[in-house]
Amino acid sequence: AASDPDLVARARAAKEALGSRVFVLGHHYQRDEVIQFADVTGDSFKLARDAAARPEAEFIVFCGVHFMAESADILTSPDQKVILPDLAAGCSMADMARLPQVEDAWDAMVEAGVADSVVPITYMNSSADIKAFCGRNGGAVCTSSNAESALDWAFAQKGEDTKVFFLPDQHLGRNTAVLRMGLTLDDCVVWDPRQANGGLSAEQLRDAKMILWRGHCSVHGRFSPDTVDDLRKTIPGVSILVHPECVHEVVLKADLVGSTEFIIKTIEAAPPGSAWAIGTELNLVKRLAADHPDKRIMFLDKTVCYCSTMNRIDLPHFVWAMESLVEGVVVNHVQVDPDTEHWAKVALQRMLDLPG
Ligand code: 13P
Ligand code: SF4
Repeated sequence: AASDPDLVARARAAKEALGSRVFVLGHHYQRDEVIQFADVTGDSFKLARDAAARPEAEFIVFCGVHFMAESADILTSPDQKVILPDLAAGCSMADMARLPQVEDAWDAMVEAGVADSVVPITYMNSSADIKAFCGRNGGAVCTSSNAESALDWAFAQKGEDTKVFFLPDQHLGRNTAVLRMGLTLDDCVVWDPRQANGGLSAEQLRDAKMILWRGHCSVHGRFSPDTVDDLRKTIPGVSILVHPECVHEVVLKADLVGSTEFIIKTIEAAPPGSAWAIGTELNLVKRLAADHPDKRIMFLDKTVCYCSTMNRIDLPHFVWAMESLVEGVVVNHVQVDPDTEHWAKVALQRMLDLPG
């Protein structure tokens, strides 16, 4: 639907009034009505770096979800304020790993005698206290753009016995381990926080190379291998391009797999007339289709699948946050406590220092 012209004018006026005091970041899954006001757009890795590179902006308005705003707060200077236009914009995947549950899993690894060889790696899509847990325990953060370098780094930390404890997305962990690191499915076990001892024996923990947390993205989890087969039958020559949060069976059937930034670059470089079915969030796929009318771009599913929490950041919330700033009122300030911030920053910095 077209944006409300009155709200568009108000957003524009507020942005102009704030000038360089505000820097607006927009994740690729944001609505068109919001992304039009972003100073930069990106995947979660690019946005984390961009936030850190704007020390002159007093306010960072983050059009994305809560864990991204937390990471921006951690990476910016203490006098910069990060604002999330709707505090209810969380992430169901990030919510699948809570600190006490993760600490229980760690205790089980200590008991099984393996914790000394375990390097915890958390996907960016996790709360700041999970990132801090990784920082405290010699681990790092990764995103879908650098999961392979993060695992390369992790496996070099403790010699040949190294194990990686990967949080919270089992699919990104499994897809990266099996398709990029040469591990097998048998090298991976899944820790299920809802079961006693994660549903794993001490022996299974000892034998595993990858201990995957049982978390997933409800949006990317909906793509199915059958849809890939159907599409290949109905559209000969179609290329299947998916995000690594999709289940392993879908990724195995895809032609290309990568982060949202990778997906965009791939489509930009694709020849006119080529056909692409894309397995990622729908706002991004629709925008790609609109921006590339010379290519045939479709969504890899028959149902509609927006990320409902990303979509919470709509134009009314954006205008409200921006106009409040103009009036001198800081709303929805996302702030991480100093101890969590310190250790989460250690883990984020290890990611930013990865080669490549
Ligand atoms: P990135 O490609 O930015 O890592 O995004 C995936 C995602 O689901 C963000 O929430
Ligand atoms: Fe979380 Fe998935 Fe939405 Fe990304 S797309 S914010 S991982 S629920």
